[in-house]
Amino acid sequence: MRLDPFSGPYSRDPATTWRRINATATSVSYDDDLEMWLIAGHDNVRAVLSDTTNFSNAATMLPITALTADAGNILAGLDAPAVAVAADRPQHLRTRTILRALMPTTAVRAEQQWGPLVAARTDDLITDMKVHEPTDLMHFAVQLPLLVIQDVLGLPTATAQQVRAWTDAFADLVWGNPTPEAQIEHAYSSVRLWRFCTDIVSGRVDSGHYGPGLIGELLRYRNNDDSNLTVAEVAALALNIVGAGWITTAGALGNALAHALADPGRWASLADDEHYLNLHVEETLRHSPAIDGWLRLTTADVTLDGVTIPAGSRCLVLIGAANHDPSVYAEPDVFDPGRGRAGQHLAFGAGPHYCVGAALARLELTTALRALARRLPDLALAPGFRQQFKTSAALRQLTNLPVQQHPAGRCPVAHGTSAGPRS
Ligand code: HEM
Repeated sequence: MRLDPFSGPYSRDPATTWRRINATATSVSYDDDLEMWLIAGHDNVRAVLSDTTNFSNAATMLPITALTADAGNILAGLDAPAVAVAADRPQHLRTRTILRALMPTTAVRAEQQWGPLVAARTDDLITDMKVHEPTDLMHFAVQLPLLVIQDVLGLPTATAQQVRAWTDAFADLVWGNPTPEAQIEHAYSSVRLWRFCTDIVSGRVDSGHYGPGLIGELLRYRNNDDSNLTVAEVAALALNIVGAGWITTAGALGNALAHALADPGRWASLADDEHYLNLHVEETLRHSPAIDGWLRLTTADVTLDGVTIPAGSRCLVLIGAANHDPSVYAEPDVFDPGRGRAGQHLAFGAGPHYCVGAALARLELTTALRALARRLPDLALAPGFRQQFKTSAALRQLTNLPVQQHPAGRCPVAHGTSAGPRS
């Protein structure tokens, strides 16, 4: 099995590759190009993501593409302690428990804590849009989660665009295929992002003013006691959240908008049908997951589907292929918000590492889709739009989403034509 995640075809339509992988006899095989094991199949993927004994998260943030020695030496400056998504037991359990205590994990509590700020950021961004000119809706899809995660963490809005550039560089270094020159730049950016987090956190500790947002809450939880959390662990959690919090949600929001605008009926329903709105979000997460591959490292020889993966192997867990497993979802490539079992998708992972930001992500997605559809009912995809994703082995974010106001009301875009995303 070959994934070829950095090729043009995969970046245009990863579902074609998942269909091929799902049609092969074995769902576990070695990819010679990537030098890692590919794991497909809904049951396998759920089992592997849930199995923290045989599959470690230690390799989650190690670059997929081998780094040059120079880039590797620079990246060594990112000496964050392992927490949350990058950690195994016992650090994982300890730091995750703290995050779960401080972050709402249900829709009701997320709305109570973050609803007003997400709504305010959404409204401001829509007000600033120049919708009478050709517009790239990915700007909105990126800026909303970026600004929201800055607010959630208690970081100054003025730093948001710098944080965006650093996290984009970090994501490309880990899950992309950057040139040796780009690796050096990305490695410097990644270290700067880490220093930014450590400077913010230690500045607050030194001043004795723990400050706003989740960083403030983590420092109050720490209560000046390293046995609760070290200062470096607080900074590493901030790094985790800033990284996990916006790129993923930007990808998901772009995908949800592309599916919505591909069919005028969907766009209209998002404005006034809350049931449809929630189904649309879940089907987007299933059909077009913003993270469609994720890394694990085997801690022992593991036999899966009759194939033995040796201890110490890197594995790419194919969430996208799992969400398109035809034994679970009939006609998996069709975008069908009315389908059954959509809620069983693995877009937020499974088991002990299940996404702690899922409630926030869903709040952002529903708030943004509802508000855009209500305030801009005549929005339509630009003619000739064809989806193109950024090059990545894990993150699925559209490069652009050109839209325009249809002058004479709704623009009828045929479902599945070149004007809409493949569904
Ligand atoms: C649509 C948006 C999102 C997607 C698709 C997504 C996806 C995921 C996935 C697949 C995992 C599991 C990783 C693993 O098994 O190793 C995960 C974990 C995590 N996510 Fe998200 N996420 C999203 C939004 C967010 C947001 C908004 C935040 C922060 C507020 C966040 C914070 C985290 C953290 C801290 C973890 C690690 C949990 C742990 O290791 O215990 N995510 N996410």
